[in-house]
Amino acid sequence: MARKKIALIGAGNIGGTLAHLAALKGLGDIVLFDVVEGVPQGKALDLSQCGPVEGFDAKITGTNDYADIKDADVIIVTAGVARKPGMSRDDLLGINLKVMKAVGEGIKNNAPNAFVICITNPLDAMVWALREFSGLPHNKVVGMAGVLDSARFSHFLAEEFQVSVKEVNSFVLGGHGDTMVPVVQYSTVAGIPIPDLIKQGRSTKERIDAIVQRTRSGGGEIVGLLKTGSAFYAPATSGIAMAEAYLFDQKRLLPCAANLTGQYGVDNLYVGAPVIIGKDGVEQVVEIELDAEAKANLQVSVDAVKELLDACKGIDSSLA
Ligand code: APR
Repeated sequence: MARKKIALIGAGNIGGTLAHLAALKGLGDIVLFDVVEGVPQGKALDLSQCGPVEGFDAKITGTNDYADIKDADVIIVTAGVARKPGMSRDDLLGINLKVMKAVGEGIKNNAPNAFVICITNPLDAMVWALREFSGLPHNKVVGMAGVLDSARFSHFLAEEFQVSVKEVNSFVLGGHGDTMVPVVQYSTVAGIPIPDLIKQGRSTKERIDAIVQRTRSGGGEIVGLLKTGSAFYAPATSGIAMAEAYLFDQKRLLPCAANLTGQYGVDNLYVGAPVIIGKDGVEQVVEIELDAEAKANLQVSVDAVKELLDACKGIDSSLA
Protein backbone atom coordinates (compact mmCIF):
# COMPACT_ATOMS: atom_id res chain seq x y z
CA MET A 1 0.00 0.00 0.00
CA ALA A 2 1.28 3.47 -0.87
CA ARG A 3 2.41 5.59 2.02
CA LYS A 4 -0.02 8.22 3.26
CA LYS A 5 0.81 11.83 2.46
CA ILE A 6 0.88 14.42 5.20
CA ALA A 7 1.01 18.07 4.14
CA LEU A 8 1.98 20.71 6.67
CA ILE A 9 1.04 24.25 5.70
CA GLY A 10 3.35 26.53 7.64
CA ALA A 11 6.91 25.40 8.33
CA GLY A 12 7.50 27.42 11.48
CA ASN A 13 7.95 26.14 15.01
CA ILE A 14 4.83 24.00 15.09
CA GLY A 15 5.16 22.91 11.45
CA GLY A 16 8.73 21.70 11.96
CA THR A 17 7.79 19.83 15.14
CA LEU A 18 4.79 18.26 13.39
CA ALA A 19 7.08 17.02 10.62
CA HIS A 20 9.52 15.55 13.12
CA LEU A 21 6.79 13.72 15.04
CA ALA A 22 5.05 12.49 11.87
CA ALA A 23 8.35 11.07 10.61
CA LEU A 24 9.24 9.42 13.93
CA LYS A 25 5.78 7.87 14.12
CA GLY A 26 5.91 6.68 10.51
CA LEU A 27 2.66 8.38 9.54
CA GLY A 28 3.67 8.74 5.89
CA ASP A 29 5.57 10.97 3.48
CA ILE A 30 5.67 14.60 4.52
CA VAL A 31 5.43 17.83 2.54
CA LEU A 32 6.32 21.05 4.34
CA PHE A 33 4.84 24.13 2.66
CA ASP A 34 5.63 27.75 3.51
CA VAL A 35 5.58 31.10 1.73
CA VAL A 36 9.15 31.83 2.84
CA GLU A 37 11.62 30.41 0.33
CA GLY A 38 14.27 28.11 1.73
CA VAL A 39 12.74 27.50 5.16
CA PRO A 40 10.57 24.48 4.29
CA GLN A 41 13.34 23.11 2.04
CA GLY A 42 15.97 23.57 4.75
CA LYS A 43 13.82 22.01 7.47
CA ALA A 44 12.89 19.11 5.17
CA LEU A 45 16.56 18.39 4.47
CA ASP A 46 17.49 18.59 8.16
CA LEU A 47 14.58 16.30 9.10
CA SER A 48 15.40 13.85 6.29
CA GLN A 49 18.83 13.47 7.81
CA CYS A 50 17.21 12.16 11.03
CA GLY A 51 16.13 9.16 8.94
CA PRO A 52 19.38 7.18 8.98
CA VAL A 53 19.68 7.65 12.74
CA GLU A 54 16.05 6.88 13.57
CA GLY A 55 15.58 4.35 10.80
CA PHE A 56 12.68 5.98 9.02
CA ASP A 57 12.29 6.11 5.25
CA ALA A 58 9.61 8.79 5.05
CA LYS A 59 10.19 11.14 2.15
CA ILE A 60 10.26 14.68 3.52
CA THR A 61 10.16 17.57 1.08
CA GLY A 62 9.91 21.33 1.41
CA THR A 63 8.04 23.50 -1.05
CA ASN A 64 6.59 26.92 -1.86
CA ASP A 65 4.22 25.49 -4.44
CA TYR A 66 0.72 24.31 -3.53
CA ALA A 67 0.83 21.79 -6.40
CA ASP A 68 3.12 19.69 -4.20
CA ILE A 69 0.38 19.05 -1.61
CA LYS A 70 -1.63 17.28 -4.33
CA ASP A 71 -3.83 14.48 -2.98
CA ALA A 72 -2.56 14.79 0.59
CA ASP A 73 -4.45 12.54 3.02
CA VAL A 74 -4.00 14.82 6.01
CA ILE A 75 -3.23 18.55 6.06
CA ILE A 76 -2.26 20.39 9.21
CA VAL A 77 -2.37 24.17 8.98
CA THR A 78 -0.17 26.40 11.15
CA ALA A 79 0.41 29.13 8.58
CA GLY A 80 0.05 32.67 9.82
CA VAL A 81 1.58 35.20 12.09
CA ALA A 82 1.51 35.48 15.84
CA ARG A 83 0.35 38.66 17.55
CA LYS A 84 3.16 41.15 17.93
CA PRO A 85 3.40 44.09 20.33
CA GLY A 86 1.22 46.97 19.15
CA MET A 87 -0.95 44.73 16.98
CA SER A 88 -4.65 44.66 17.82
CA ARG A 89 -6.65 41.47 17.77
CA ASP A 90 -8.42 42.75 14.66
CA ASP A 91 -5.08 43.43 12.94
CA LEU A 92 -4.07 39.83 13.63
CA LEU A 93 -7.47 38.59 12.52
CA GLY A 94 -7.16 40.50 9.23
CA ILE A 95 -3.70 39.12 8.46
CA ASN A 96 -4.44 35.50 9.33
CA LEU A 97 -7.81 35.64 7.57
CA LYS A 98 -5.97 36.45 4.34
CA VAL A 99 -3.60 33.55 5.03
CA MET A 100 -6.61 31.21 5.52
CA LYS A 101 -8.03 32.38 2.19
CA ALA A 102 -4.82 31.46 0.36
CA VAL A 103 -4.50 28.16 2.25
CA GLY A 104 -8.19 27.29 1.73
CA GLU A 105 -7.86 27.84 -2.02
CA GLY A 106 -4.65 25.82 -2.12
CA ILE A 107 -6.41 22.93 -0.42
CA LYS A 108 -9.56 23.20 -2.56
CA ASN A 109 -7.52 23.09 -5.78
CA ASN A 110 -5.06 20.36 -4.80
CA ALA A 111 -6.29 18.13 -2.01
CA PRO A 112 -10.06 18.37 -1.65
CA ASN A 113 -10.31 14.90 -0.09
CA ALA A 114 -7.91 15.59 2.76
CA PHE A 115 -8.71 15.64 6.47
CA VAL A 116 -7.72 19.16 7.52
CA ILE A 117 -6.63 20.12 11.01
CA CYS A 118 -6.28 23.85 11.69
CA ILE A 119 -4.01 25.14 14.45
CA THR A 120 -3.62 28.81 13.44
CA ASN A 121 -4.98 31.32 15.96
CA PRO A 122 -7.43 32.78 16.74
CA LEU A 123 -8.39 29.15 16.34
CA ASP A 124 -12.18 29.07 16.41
CA ALA A 125 -12.45 31.83 13.83
CA MET A 126 -9.61 30.55 11.63
CA VAL A 127 -10.93 26.98 11.40
CA TRP A 128 -14.36 28.32 10.47
CA ALA A 129 -12.87 30.63 7.81
CA LEU A 130 -10.63 27.85 6.46
CA ARG A 131 -13.70 25.63 6.03
CA GLU A 132 -15.56 28.43 4.26
CA PHE A 133 -12.64 29.22 1.92
CA SER A 134 -11.81 25.57 1.15
CA GLY A 135 -15.41 24.47 0.69
CA LEU A 136 -14.59 21.04 2.14
CA PRO A 137 -17.33 19.20 4.05
CA HIS A 138 -17.57 20.22 7.72
CA ASN A 139 -16.63 16.74 8.92
CA LYS A 140 -13.27 17.02 7.15
CA VAL A 141 -12.18 20.34 8.69
CA VAL A 142 -11.50 20.50 12.40
CA GLY A 143 -9.59 22.73 14.81
CA MET A 144 -6.95 21.66 17.29
CA ALA A 145 -7.45 23.28 20.67
CA GLY A 146 -9.17 21.01 23.16
CA VAL A 147 -6.56 18.24 22.97
CA LEU A 148 -3.90 20.79 23.91
CA ASP A 149 -6.01 22.56 26.53
CA SER A 150 -6.97 19.29 28.20
CA ALA A 151 -3.34 18.10 28.06
CA ARG A 152 -2.41 21.25 29.97
CA PHE A 153 -5.24 20.66 32.44
CA SER A 154 -4.23 17.00 32.86
CA HIS A 155 -0.58 17.92 33.40
CA PHE A 156 -1.48 20.32 36.23
CA LEU A 157 -3.93 17.80 37.74
CA ALA A 158 -1.32 15.02 37.69
CA GLU A 159 1.04 17.34 39.55
CA GLU A 160 -1.66 18.29 42.06
CA PHE A 161 -2.65 14.69 42.84
CA GLN A 162 0.89 13.37 42.42
CA VAL A 163 -0.15 10.61 40.06
CA SER A 164 0.94 9.53 36.60
CA VAL A 165 -0.54 11.56 33.76
CA LYS A 166 -1.83 8.22 32.49
CA GLU A 167 -4.36 8.16 35.36
CA VAL A 168 -5.75 11.58 34.52
CA ASN A 169 -8.55 12.18 32.08
CA SER A 170 -9.61 15.77 31.74
CA PHE A 171 -12.06 17.63 29.70
CA VAL A 172 -12.09 21.12 28.19
CA LEU A 173 -14.95 22.61 26.17
CA GLY A 174 -15.62 25.88 24.39
CA GLY A 175 -13.42 28.31 22.50
CA HIS A 176 -9.63 28.28 22.57
CA GLY A 177 -8.83 31.30 24.68
CA ASP A 178 -9.49 32.87 28.03
CA THR A 179 -13.10 31.77 27.86
CA MET A 180 -12.40 28.04 27.45
CA VAL A 181 -14.28 25.78 29.84
CA PRO A 182 -12.24 23.16 31.71
CA VAL A 183 -15.01 20.85 32.99
CA VAL A 184 -14.09 19.71 36.50
CA GLN A 185 -17.23 17.58 36.77
CA TYR A 186 -16.01 15.23 34.01
CA SER A 187 -12.32 15.25 34.84
CA THR A 188 -11.08 12.18 36.67
CA VAL A 189 -8.11 10.48 38.26
CA ALA A 190 -8.34 6.73 37.55
CA GLY A 191 -12.06 7.19 36.96
CA ILE A 192 -12.69 9.14 40.19
CA PRO A 193 -14.25 12.54 39.43
CA ILE A 194 -12.33 15.58 40.75
CA PRO A 195 -15.28 16.74 42.94
CA ASP A 196 -15.13 13.35 44.75
CA LEU A 197 -11.38 13.73 45.28
CA ILE A 198 -12.03 17.17 46.79
CA LYS A 199 -14.61 15.57 49.12
CA GLN A 200 -11.97 13.04 50.13
CA GLY A 201 -9.70 15.94 51.11
CA ARG A 202 -7.11 15.21 48.40
CA SER A 203 -7.35 18.76 47.12
CA THR A 204 -9.53 21.82 47.64
CA LYS A 205 -11.95 23.72 45.45
CA GLU A 206 -9.61 26.73 45.64
CA ARG A 207 -6.63 24.75 44.39
CA ILE A 208 -8.65 23.22 41.54
CA ASP A 209 -10.04 26.68 40.65
CA ALA A 210 -6.46 27.94 40.43
CA ILE A 211 -5.56 25.02 38.11
CA VAL A 212 -8.58 25.81 35.94
CA GLN A 213 -7.40 29.42 35.71
CA ARG A 214 -3.82 28.37 34.93
CA THR A 215 -5.13 26.06 32.18
CA ARG A 216 -7.13 28.93 30.66
CA SER A 217 -4.05 31.11 30.47
CA GLY A 218 -1.73 28.18 29.68
CA GLY A 219 -0.70 29.53 26.27
CA GLY A 220 -0.05 33.03 27.64
CA GLU A 221 2.12 31.67 30.44
CA ILE A 222 4.41 30.06 27.85
CA VAL A 223 4.48 33.17 25.63
CA GLY A 224 5.48 35.17 28.70
CA LEU A 225 8.39 32.85 29.33
CA LEU A 226 9.55 32.39 25.73
CA LYS A 227 9.13 36.07 24.84
CA THR A 228 9.81 35.48 21.14
CA GLY A 229 7.14 32.99 20.23
CA SER A 230 4.42 30.70 21.49
CA ALA A 231 4.17 27.06 22.56
CA PHE A 232 4.96 24.51 19.89
CA TYR A 233 5.84 21.08 21.31
CA ALA A 234 2.49 20.35 22.94
CA PRO A 235 0.44 21.95 20.14
CA ALA A 236 2.25 19.78 17.58
CA THR A 237 1.85 16.64 19.71
CA SER A 238 -1.87 17.37 19.98
CA GLY A 239 -2.26 17.89 16.24
CA ILE A 240 -0.52 14.59 15.56
CA ALA A 241 -2.87 12.74 17.95
CA MET A 242 -5.80 13.99 15.89
CA ALA A 243 -4.12 13.00 12.61
CA GLU A 244 -3.47 9.50 13.96
CA ALA A 245 -7.11 9.15 15.06
CA TYR A 246 -8.13 9.81 11.44
CA LEU A 247 -5.42 7.81 9.66
CA PHE A 248 -5.88 4.71 11.83
CA ASP A 249 -9.66 5.02 12.24
CA GLN A 250 -9.18 5.04 15.99
CA LYS A 251 -12.64 6.45 16.84
CA ARG A 252 -11.02 8.48 19.60
CA LEU A 253 -13.24 10.80 21.59
CA LEU A 254 -11.24 14.03 21.54
CA PRO A 255 -12.16 17.60 22.38
CA CYS A 256 -11.83 19.51 19.09
CA ALA A 257 -13.18 22.67 17.50
CA ALA A 258 -15.92 21.17 15.35
CA ASN A 259 -18.90 22.56 13.52
CA LEU A 260 -21.87 22.25 15.87
CA THR A 261 -25.31 21.77 14.38
CA GLY A 262 -27.57 22.30 17.36
CA GLN A 263 -25.48 20.44 19.97
CA TYR A 264 -25.03 22.45 23.16
CA GLY A 265 -27.57 24.91 21.75
CA VAL A 266 -25.04 26.10 19.16
CA ASP A 267 -25.87 26.16 15.47
CA ASN A 268 -23.41 26.35 12.60
CA LEU A 269 -20.42 27.53 14.61
CA TYR A 270 -17.02 25.98 15.26
CA VAL A 271 -16.71 25.51 19.01
CA GLY A 272 -14.73 23.06 21.13
CA ALA A 273 -16.73 19.92 21.91
CA PRO A 274 -16.01 16.22 22.39
CA VAL A 275 -16.06 14.53 18.99
CA ILE A 276 -15.31 11.08 17.66
CA ILE A 277 -12.55 11.10 15.05
CA GLY A 278 -12.18 8.14 12.72
CA LYS A 279 -11.79 7.40 9.02
CA ASP A 280 -14.66 9.76 8.10
CA GLY A 281 -13.14 12.67 9.99
CA VAL A 282 -15.45 14.10 12.61
CA GLU A 283 -17.85 11.18 12.83
CA GLN A 284 -19.96 12.37 15.73
CA VAL A 285 -20.29 15.31 18.11
CA VAL A 286 -20.95 13.96 21.59
CA GLU A 287 -23.29 15.93 23.80
CA ILE A 288 -22.86 15.66 27.54
CA GLU A 289 -24.98 17.04 30.34
CA LEU A 290 -23.34 20.12 31.84
CA ASP A 291 -23.91 21.64 35.27
CA ALA A 292 -25.17 25.23 35.50
CA GLU A 293 -21.69 26.74 35.93
CA ALA A 294 -20.21 24.91 32.92
CA LYS A 295 -23.28 25.84 30.85
CA ALA A 296 -22.94 29.51 31.71
CA ASN A 297 -19.20 29.44 30.99
CA LEU A 298 -19.80 27.72 27.66
CA GLN A 299 -22.27 30.45 26.69
CA VAL A 300 -19.63 33.12 27.39
CA SER A 301 -17.19 31.19 25.25
CA VAL A 302 -19.68 30.77 22.40
CA ASP A 303 -20.46 34.51 22.49
CA ALA A 304 -16.73 35.27 22.24
CA VAL A 305 -16.44 32.99 19.17
CA LYS A 306 -19.49 34.68 17.57
CA GLU A 307 -17.90 38.08 18.10
CA LEU A 308 -14.75 36.89 16.30
CA LEU A 309 -16.77 35.57 13.36
CA ASP A 310 -18.63 38.88 13.07
CA ALA A 311 -15.26 40.63 12.95
CA CYS A 312 -14.11 38.23 10.19
CA LYS A 313 -17.27 38.94 8.18
CA GLY A 314 -16.61 42.67 8.59
CA ILE A 315 -13.08 42.23 7.22
CA ASP A 316 -13.90 39.89 4.31
CA SER A 317 -17.33 40.43 2.80
CA SER A 318 -17.21 37.09 0.94
CA LEU A 319 -17.71 35.43 4.35
CA ALA A 320 -20.82 37.40 5.27
N1 APR B 1 1.15 30.46 3.71
C1 APR B 1 1.97 29.55 4.27
N2 APR B 1 2.74 29.80 5.34
C2 APR B 1 2.67 31.04 5.86
C3 APR B 1 1.84 32.04 5.33
C4 APR B 1 1.06 31.72 4.20
N3 APR B 1 0.25 32.61 3.61
N4 APR B 1 2.01 33.15 6.08
C5 APR B 1 2.90 32.85 7.05
N5 APR B 1 3.30 31.58 6.92
C6 APR B 1 4.28 30.82 7.71
C7 APR B 1 5.41 31.64 8.24
O1 APR B 1 6.36 31.89 7.21
C8 APR B 1 5.93 30.76 9.35
O2 APR B 1 6.95 29.89 8.88
O3 APR B 1 3.65 30.29 8.88
C9 APR B 1 4.72 29.93 9.76
C10 APR B 1 4.28 30.19 11.19
O4 APR B 1 5.26 29.70 12.01
P1 APR B 1 5.68 30.38 13.40
O5 APR B 1 5.67 31.87 13.25
O6 APR B 1 6.88 29.70 13.90
O7 APR B 1 4.42 30.09 14.34
P2 APR B 1 4.09 28.71 15.13
O8 APR B 1 4.65 28.80 16.49
O9 APR B 1 4.42 27.55 14.27
O10 APR B 1 2.52 28.89 15.27
C11 APR B 1 1.68 28.89 14.14
O11 APR B 1 -0.28 28.22 15.36
O12 APR B 1 -0.73 28.02 17.63
C12 APR B 1 -0.84 28.82 16.50
O13 APR B 1 -0.82 31.03 17.44
C13 APR B 1 -0.09 30.12 16.66
O14 APR B 1 -1.16 31.10 14.79
C14 APR B 1 0.04 30.53 15.25
C15 APR B 1 0.24 29.20 14.51
